[in-house]
Amino acid sequence: MAPIEFNKRRILFLVAGILAFFIVFHGLSVLDSDSIRDVTAHISLPGIQSPTGHKTPPEFESDADDIWDFDSESSPVAQSNSSTTEPKPAQHFDLHPIAQLMQAADDRFRAYESGISTSFRQTVEKYRSRYGRHPPPGFKDWYKFARERNVFNIDDFEQIMDDLRPFWAANPSELRTHAAHMGEDPKFGVAVIHIRNHTIVQADNPSWRSETMETVISKFVEFLPDMDIPMNRLDQPRVVVPWEDMQEMLQKEYETRTMPPEVMDTFSVGQPNLLDMTIQDRAQDNSTRLDDGWFFAPGKQYMDIAAKACPPESPARSNMTIAEADMLYKESIAGFVTNFNLSSDLCTVGPTVQNLHGLLYSASSIIASHKLVPIFGECKVNVNSDILFPANMYYRHDDRYDYDPSEDLDWRDKQDNIIWRGVTSGGVQLENNWQTMHRQRLVQLFNGTHVSRSGTEVKVLTEKLDEPEATNTTYELYDRFHPSRFADEHSDIGFVEAWGCVPNCAFYDTVFSWKPQVSLTAQFRSKYLIDVDGHSFSGRWRAFLQSKSLGFKATIFREWHDSRLLAWRHFVPVDNRYDDLYALLTYFIGYGDSKQDNVMDGEELNPQVYIAPHEREAQKLARQGREWANKVLRRDDIEVYMFRLLLEYGRIIDDRRDFIGYSGDGSELDKFDAGDEHGKGWSWGIGGWKT
Ligand SMILES: *[C@@H]1O[C@H](CO)[C@@H](O)[C@H](O)[C@H]1NC(C)=O
Ligand SMILES: *[C@@H]1O[C@H](CO)[C@@H](O)[C@H](O)[C@H]1NC(C)=O
Ligand SMILES: *[C@@H]1O[C@H](CO)[C@@H](O)[C@H](O)[C@H]1NC(C)=O
Ligand SMILES: *[C@@H]1O[C@H](CO)[C@@H](O)[C@H](O)[C@H]1NC(C)=O
Ligand SMILES: *[C@@H]1O[C@H](CO)[C@@H](O)[C@H](O)[C@H]1NC(C)=O
Ligand SMILES: *[C@@H]1O[C@H](CO)[C@@H](O)[C@H](O)[C@H]1NC(C)=O
Ligand SMILES: *[C@@H]1O[C@H](CO)[C@@H](O)[C@H](O)[C@H]1NC(C)=O
Repeated sequence: MAPIEFNKRRILFLVAGILAFFIVFHGLSVLDSDSIRDVTAHISLPGIQSPTGHKTPPEFESDADDIWDFDSESSPVAQSNSSTTEPKPAQHFDLHPIAQLMQAADDRFRAYESGISTSFRQTVEKYRSRYGRHPPPGFKDWYKFARERNVFNIDDFEQIMDDLRPFWAANPSELRTHAAHMGEDPKFGVAVIHIRNHTIVQADNPSWRSETMETVISKFVEFLPDMDIPMNRLDQPRVVVPWEDMQEMLQKEYETRTMPPEVMDTFSVGQPNLLDMTIQDRAQDNSTRLDDGWFFAPGKQYMDIAAKACPPESPARSNMTIAEADMLYKESIAGFVTNFNLSSDLCTVGPTVQNLHGLLYSASSIIASHKLVPIFGECKVNVNSDILFPANMYYRHDDRYDYDPSEDLDWRDKQDNIIWRGVTSGGVQLENNWQTMHRQRLVQLFNGTHVSRSGTEVKVLTEKLDEPEATNTTYELYDRFHPSRFADEHSDIGFVEAWGCVPNCAFYDTVFSWKPQVSLTAQFRSKYLIDVDGHSFSGRWRAFLQSKSLGFKATIFREWHDSRLLAWRHFVPVDNRYDDLYALLTYFIGYGDSKQDNVMDGEELNPQVYIAPHEREAQKLARQGREWANKVLRRDDIEVYMFRLLLEYGRIIDDRRDFIGYSGDGSELDKFDAGDEHGKGWSWGIGGWKT
C-alpha cells in the first residue's frame, strides 16, 4: 500500500491488461505454451520475485519436468490410448479459461523456484538487495537452523518483511513500552510472552495459543534477545492503520534504509521499557504506559473501520461499481478468480462482500485500534497491520486439524463429489441476518431441494457445439444452469450443528437439517474439498492441501503461508460470493452424457449443457498441492518462520537497530554450505529439493 506497493499493483494491473489483450488476440491459445511463457516469465508477482539472473541449474530442470508429468502413483483417467488413436489432427487444444489459468500459474511457479539462493553468500546478498538493510543479528544461526530443517526456499519470508515494514517508522522504545504492558488488562484480549536471558520467563494472560507459541519459541530461544511478545487472543484481527498514515510510515521505512559497512552481530542488552519482571504485583509497576487505542466494535460494519486503510482510488473508497471491481481480479466469462490476492483484498472486494461475510457485518468480537501497535496474530485481513505468525493449530497436534492418511484414498478410489462439514459459525446469527453469511450461503447453494424450490440459476461454461469442424474445444457461457440435480449427485455439504445464534437457533429448524459428522480424514474419501472461513481463518487448510484430494478455497483472511501458495497450481481459488463454484465443479467433474443427447433419468435438465470431465487437471492440482504442502508447510517450516520473525522483531524494537546486524559477505558458512561440517559432501541443491 505504500507508494511503492501501489505502484507494484498498478504494474500488475497493466500486466494483467496486456495479458488479457494477448489472450483475446490469440483466442485463448494457452496451451501453445511457449509464447505465453515468454510473456509471463517477466511478471513479478507481488510477494514473488522473478528470477534475478540466476541460471536454472540443469538437475532442477529435470526434476521440474517430473512434476508436470503424471506419475504412476494413481493412474490418470484421460491418458488412455483410445483417445489418441482417433483419427484427428495431432494438435487439439482445450481452450478453457481454467487451462489457461493453470498454465499461467505453472509459469509463475517456475519463476518462483528458479531464483532460490543455494548458499549463505547468496542469501545474504539477496537480503540486502531486496530490503536495503543488513540481515538482523543471529542471521547466521537462523540460516543454519533453516538448512538443517531442509527449508525449501530460504529467501521467501516476504510476509514477515511486509508485516514489519511500517514498524521501522515507530520508535523502538515506544514499541517496547506498548508490548510490555499490552496484556495487563485482560479485557483487551492480548497475551504477552516475556523472554529474558534466553528463556521464556512468563506469559501474561495466557491461553492454549500462547502455550503453543511458547513451545515453538523454545526451539531457538537461546538466540533471541530480551523481548515482550504480545499475541492476539481473539479470533478476529486487530490493527487498522489509516492509509495516509501508512503511506508516511512506509515512506519513512524506505528513507531509513541503511547499510553501514561494519555493524555488530549482537542485540543490545539491558534495554529499558521492557516489562520489569522483578515486580510481582503489576499494580506496583509505576512505569510509563502508552495508550494502545483499543476500541470495541462487535457487530458493526467492518468496512467502516477497514476502508480507512484503503487507497483512495480503490473500490472501497471510490464509487467503482462491482462490475468494475470484478474486472480487477476475475476472468470475464465465468468469473474465475485470476488474482487470489485481490480476491481477498477488502479494498477491492470489500464493497461487494461486506454483507456476505459474517466477520464483516456480524462479528462476535472486534477490538480494534487505528494505532500501529505491535501485536502478533494467526490471521488478518489485508487491511490489518497485525504481525502474522503460523497459526498454532498448524503446530500442535490436534485430530480435528492434523492430516491423517488413514482414510485418504488414491484418486481413482475417491468419490466424484465435493464435501464440506462444519458448524454455523462465522458471526452472530439472528433470525434476519443468517441468510447472507458465508457458511450458510454455501450450504444453501448446494442444497438440491433449496435451489430447486427457489429456482436458482447459476453460471457454467458449456462446450460450443456450433463448430463441428473445429479441432479445438471452445466454451461459452450458459447462465441459466439449474444446479439441483448436479448438487444432489456431486455434493455432500452441510452443517453438523447450530451454534452462535441469538436468542437461540430455532430459526434454523425449517431451513437446515443436520448432517452426520465426518472426521477430517473421512472427508478425504471425496475428490473435492471446499474450505471456507469460520469466525476466522480455517485451520483445516493445511490438511486439505496435504491430502490426495483437491482443495477449493474461499477466504478473506491472510495467513503466514500466503506467499508460498499459488492459486491454480496448488489449489482452486473460489470467489467469496461463490458465483464461480458450479462453473468450477462442472469443469472438473463434467456434465451431461454427450454433446447431443443429454437426458438424465428420463428428465431433461439443462439439455443445452455439455462439458467433458477434466479429472486429469484436478488430479494434477491435487498432487501439486500435496507435494508442495509437504515441502513448505511442515512443522519445521513453522519453526524456521517463527525464528526469522523474532529475529526481525528483535531488531526493530532495538534502540540500536540501524547499527546491528550481519555485515559480512557470507563466506563464514562456505564450509557449512559445502557440507563439510556434516561430514558428507552435500550441497543444498534447490533448497532441500533432494529430500
Ligand atoms: C486451435 O488452437 C491453437 C492454439 O491456440 C491454435 O494455434 C489453432 O489455430 C486453433 N485451431 C483452430 C482450427 O482454430
Ligand atoms: C497405442 O497405440 C499405438 C498406435 O496406435 C499402438 O502401437 C500401441 O500398441 C497402443 N498401445 C496400447 C497400450 O494400446
Ligand atoms: C543468565 O543465565 C545464565 C545461565 O543460565 C546465568 O549464568 C546468568 O547469570 C544469567 N544472567 C542474568 C542477567 O540473569
Ligand atoms: C509505585 O508507586 C507506589 C506509590 O507511589 C509506591 O508505593 C510503590 O513502591 C512504587 N513501586 C515501585 C516498584 O517503585
Ligand atoms: C465517481 O464520482 C465522481 C465524482 O464524485 C465522478 O466524477 C465519477 O465519474 C464517478 N465515477 C463513476 C465510475 O461513477
Ligand atoms: C435443504 O433444504 C430443505 C428445504 O429448505 C430443508 O428442508 C433441508 O433441511 C435442507 N437440507 C440440509 C442438509 O440442510
Ligand atoms: C498481495 O498484494 C499486495 C499489494 O500489491 C502485496 O503487498 C502482497 O505482497 C501480496 N501478497 C501476496 C501473498 O502475494
